Amino acid sequence: MTGNSYLNCSDESIRRHVREEHRQLNVELDKLFACCLGDQHGCDSQTDWKKIRERVHRLRENMAHHFREEEEGSCLDEAVARRTTLAPEAREIEREHPELLAELDGLISWLDDEPPLETTLQIARTRLNAFAANLKRHEVREDALIRRGVGGFGEDD
Ligand SMILES: [Fe+2]
Ligand SMILES: [Fe+2]
Repeated sequence: MTGNSYLNCSDESIRRHVREEHRQLNVELDKLFACCLGDQHGCDSQTDWKKIRERVHRLRENMAHHFREEEEGSCLDEAVARRTTLAPEAREIEREHPELLAELDGLISWLDDEPPLETTLQIARTRLNAFAANLKRHEVREDALIRRGVGGFGEDD
């Protein structure tokens, strides 16, 4: 983190920002997964393959942007600024960013090399599911840290 403080933002705007960013990433993941349903949904895997590649690249760009924002000082910094004992955990969470990006990069280069077949789509779904679970775990951890630092997170907490 480089200390671009968002201390002028209200707690609610911080929470809303993270919630919205995570929601958008999850929507992108869902759309990508839907593309990978392929022939099961009467889709043409040749056509879908192009969409899958476009979507996975877009997801990669948006994730990198979101992670950079978190690392350069936004919501995690705010949580730490309000409760300094959260600092080690915030650093730990940030260290998951390159791991998640590397996992997605592995999927991207694998997709680039594979032929557009139904079996490839099946494997892509399995890999995407595993990736989505890892990303979700990361977001849950992050949300919990922000909740502890800046108060409630989400209307139903
Ligand atoms: Fe993160
Ligand atoms: Fe995040």
